[in-house]
Amino acid sequence: MKVWAIANQKGGVGKTTTAVSLAGVLAQRGSRVLVLDLDPQGSLTSYFRYSPDDLESSIFTLFQNQAVNPYSLVRPTRFEGMHILPATMGLATLDRQLGAKSGMGLVISKALKAMTDKYDYALIDCPPMLGVLMVNAMAACDHLVIPVQTEFLALKGLERMLKTLTMITRSRSVRLPYTIVPTMFDRRTRASTETLRLLRTRYVDDLWNSVIPVDTQFREASRMGVPLPMLLPQSRGVIAYERLLNALLSHDAKQAQTAAI
Ligand SMILES: Nc1ncnc2c1ncn2[C@@H]1O[C@H](COP(=O)(O)OP(=O)(O)O)[C@@H](O)[C@H]1O
Ligand SMILES: [Mg+2]
Repeated sequence: MKVWAIANQKGGVGKTTTAVSLAGVLAQRGSRVLVLDLDPQGSLTSYFRYSPDDLESSIFTLFQNQAVNPYSLVRPTRFEGMHILPATMGLATLDRQLGAKSGMGLVISKALKAMTDKYDYALIDCPPMLGVLMVNAMAACDHLVIPVQTEFLALKGLERMLKTLTMITRSRSVRLPYTIVPTMFDRRTRASTETLRLLRTRYVDDLWNSVIPVDTQFREASRMGVPLPMLLPQSRGVIAYERLLNALLSHDAKQAQTAAI
């Protein structure tokens, strides 16, 4: 199982959309995909028509009792090959209630290891704040995807995110690979083109060489609770996410090759 986390401490940059779209394309290609909602807001959970306010069990259950079989908390979605580990409101209290308890940083990592044969990919939608959930996501993933909205001030948020990454992953023996993904790109606006230009000068190695364009269909797909790849496979937004997926896959393949030498 490959584990990718999608994170940025800034909200509204396209994290949930990226998780849903990549998962949708993977499922369409026949992969078994698990999406995990680590955001107490529960947007990903709501996307798949579960209510973060009413669910009796969720990822939060795992943090309360690590003896629970994580697979018993997984729920189906309406889409073949896509399952979800949902969020509930309780996640918002995690840092206060259990953050200081030892062993809390590896809960997700252990849960995914226990399900490693069940899925080809696990995609983690991260919360927009630093805390025990973000620590868990970074400990569990093999690759971090950082969506950055192409607008003014976006680079400040990215710098913060990269600082957090360095801080959290300090104890790793090898650097956690990450890919910066410019999102909501509108080539008619100066904010978009200027931000992209700055990203390209500052983050040469870890920047994806293309962009996710603004596409109003994402909002429509979200309203309908359908991943855009399943709704409009030919839309420009989906074509961009297919390209991103291919880039992530070839990045991982290259890495595996280097590791094998
Ligand atoms: N490429 C895009 N083009 C247009 N709207 C988008 C795009 N990506 C995301 N959105 C919309 O922007 C809003 C925020 O996106 P979301 O993925 O929820 O961000 P985050 O998870 O980072 O808070 C949502 O309404 C979503 O539908
Ligand atoms: Mg979100």
